[in-house]
Amino acid sequence: MIDNPFVQALIFILPSYVANASPVLVRKVIKVTHPIDLGKNFIDGKRVLGDGKTFEGFFIGVIAGCAVGSLLAMLSLHTLWGSFILSLGTLLGDIMGSFIKRRVGIKRGEMFPFLDQLLFLITSVTLYSLMVEPLPLTWVIFLLVITPWLHLLTNYLAFKIGLKDVPW
Ligand code: CTP
Ligand code: MG
Repeated sequence: MIDNPFVQALIFILPSYVANASPVLVRKVIKVTHPIDLGKNFIDGKRVLGDGKTFEGFFIGVIAGCAVGSLLAMLSLHTLWGSFILSLGTLLGDIMGSFIKRRVGIKRGEMFPFLDQLLFLITSVTLYSLMVEPLPLTWVIFLLVITPWLHLLTNYLAFKIGLKDVPW
């Protein structure tokens, strides 16, 4: 089996990465989407989450994360339940991120360094640790270091091939 801890950590987090990346496809495949905040404003007069967080994106993210998780489960490299928890944590973190961004006045689609790249990881790993099992500290540290770079690289590639309007 795979005994390199860094490769193990990357395989473990793959459902989370896929869950985080796949909602961007929503705009390409679905014409009419529905914002999770139902278009409503918060008490500060700004949108609760904004148009970048849709029900369709949420479900596509969770389903895509579970799909990868079930493939990995067939190879005994993950569990379906574990990949579901990681995917759910990812999309919940994504929503939390937008809520925070709107409160501090960052517009939908604008970058919030570190929060955009790391909050989804922190929430998915935290939920997994609470609901499934704690993770090796080495994995967590490695993922915290590598994820912002991978996030920036994949978003840049998604921008280059026309999936995203911004390179972050
Ligand atoms: N997306 C979606 N539903 C989600 C998450 C993402 O439909 N729950 C889609 C939206 O089209 C969004 C795109 O994926 O614009 C990129 O996601 P993200 O970068 O997370 O959203 P932003 O548009 O940057 O919005 P925010 O500033 O609120 O993060
Ligand atoms: Mg964004």
